[in-house]
Amino acid sequence: MNKPSLVAAFLAALALSLPLYAQTPSFTIQADQPIAKVSPTLYGLMTEEINYSYDGGIYGELVRDRTPSTAWDALVSWPMVARGNSAVNVSIDSATGPSAALTRSLRVSVSAAAPGSPAGVENGGYWGIPVRPQTVYTGSFYAKTDAPGLAVTVSLENDQTGAVAATTTVTGLTGEWKQFTWTLKTAGVPPSSNNHLLLTIARPATVWFDLVSLFPPTYHARPSGNRVDIMEKLAAMQPKFLRLPGGNYLEGDHIADRFDWKKTIGPRTDRPTHPSPWSYRSSDGMGLLEFLEWCEDLKMEPVLAVYAGYSLQQEHIDPGPALEPYVQDALDEIEYVTGGADTKWGAERIKDGHPAPFPLHYVEVGNEDQFDRSHSYDGRFAQFYHAFKQHYPTLQIIATTPVKGVTPDVLDEHFYMPAEETFAQAHHYDAADRKGPKIFVGEWATREGNPTPDLEAALADAAWLTGLERNSDLIIMTSYAPLFVNVNPGGMQWAPDLIGYDALTSYGSPSYWTQVMFSTHLGTEVVASTLANAPARVYASVTRDDAKRKIFVKVVNATSTAQPLAIALTGVQKLAPLATLTTMSGRTPNATNSITHPDAVKPAAAKVPIPGPNFTQTFAPYSVNVLELSY
Ligand code: AHR
Repeated sequence: MNKPSLVAAFLAALALSLPLYAQTPSFTIQADQPIAKVSPTLYGLMTEEINYSYDGGIYGELVRDRTPSTAWDALVSWPMVARGNSAVNVSIDSATGPSAALTRSLRVSVSAAAPGSPAGVENGGYWGIPVRPQTVYTGSFYAKTDAPGLAVTVSLENDQTGAVAATTTVTGLTGEWKQFTWTLKTAGVPPSSNNHLLLTIARPATVWFDLVSLFPPTYHARPSGNRVDIMEKLAAMQPKFLRLPGGNYLEGDHIADRFDWKKTIGPRTDRPTHPSPWSYRSSDGMGLLEFLEWCEDLKMEPVLAVYAGYSLQQEHIDPGPALEPYVQDALDEIEYVTGGADTKWGAERIKDGHPAPFPLHYVEVGNEDQFDRSHSYDGRFAQFYHAFKQHYPTLQIIATTPVKGVTPDVLDEHFYMPAEETFAQAHHYDAADRKGPKIFVGEWATREGNPTPDLEAALADAAWLTGLERNSDLIIMTSYAPLFVNVNPGGMQWAPDLIGYDALTSYGSPSYWTQVMFSTHLGTEVVASTLANAPARVYASVTRDDAKRKIFVKVVNATSTAQPLAIALTGVQKLAPLATLTTMSGRTPNATNSITHPDAVKPAAAKVPIPGPNFTQTFAPYSVNVLELSY
């Protein structure tokens, strides 16, 4: 290269580097300038029966179609078993059942069987029944027989090898319906999910079964409780509320298919089960009280969504007298949640086993009522609103879409967006009207990744959350949706979903980890901050907790290069010389977690030196970060 071209090359390089140098992004934080309170209830959970969220998900029941009497196609879950020369016929018997709510049953008619060649039925659970070593499983069934004295053998058997992990014998069957309880205890078996539950008899006879149930150890050892690994993942999110029971699941396809809460309480024999709009039938094992106990276990408050007279197939109840029974039903529901022993429905809850009332501050009227083409929501909402305020003046009432006539306390807004749109919406609420209702972002997600969101989605989610957090004087609650997915083929109706699982294990998606990072570094006040000269796809928000003397700086770098930020803090006397930087990043935006690689993308914490109030911190490519400073 000759001299002039060398000089030209040098000048060109300088020209390229100068603007870069001149535009080093800066982030100015006025730590003594709180501009808004952070809502203490900002992060919570939204839940419904979708993607096998309860049955085959968080609800610990391992037997699928445990009440075979409620659906004709339940026989699919109960294949017949005939070993050796035995013979059996299995059907649904519509002439007999164990209770007024369960009027049919599984009829197992064995015409040939002997001790070495038993016959009966099996149940493969939700894509397998999980077996772990040294574990006690709690089981029960209702049964009767035409051969009093008959014994039923109950076993957990491996699908491939036929190895029996645990077995017991249930005796004393009679001609009357009766519940039998039993346990199965495994020894040193390897963990596996490819097992089934086997119910057999060893001589010719007919047995009728219903409510066949099997539970592993549950979270907080609650009888008929929740799966431990999934509850632990939720606990790590430190959620403050649970929006229940839906979603579309609240509404049902038809009015008759709504979440009819009174049919979900009390003994399981009183729960007739019901179809969900997500293509399978709900066992209603996760009934109203179980939802509330789930809240109690994770120290969350329920955000109770009540059925408001609209179902998805455009069925609605006109406001006025026709709607009154539904309003009364919702008032009864609130009383069941909050009432004392001196109230009808409070007493009912106590009878169901929970003496203490539950805290309740928010009730949501319906779900996504903007889709009701009869436009009846203004009237329906007003009727519920006035009834609630009359009986419970301090209750905060949430509308699912803007209404005319009355001003709701809170408005629930939903956002399902591709990543580009989520990034673009990161400032959606910055200039929003503060004079109207508070906002509950009750469902939102960046829709990228299947079955669970990838890193790109998690970055966009994080950018979006910086906006919700910055505006959390207005946004009082947020919840991602859907929360769960059973990743087995046929398990999913909606993608992506925050937490994935099969029968044996579960994992958090990168978006799950974004939620954990944000909710566990909440702060109490938003402080003033200015991000200047930052390239597109860099986002930030800052909160502080003055009582704890902490500043939480959240930075999202969704670019492909490491991003230095010149951070200038004003308004603090002194900073601790070490901060904690928690970072979640990946090599490509497609990086993700899965049931086989559950930990590919997850946050890691490191100590970083803080030389003083002015310092440069570099944030990794494709990263979500929380810098926790002490002052
Ligand atoms: O989260 C899935 C569905 O999306 C919810 O049931 C519904 O409220 C929304 O349309």
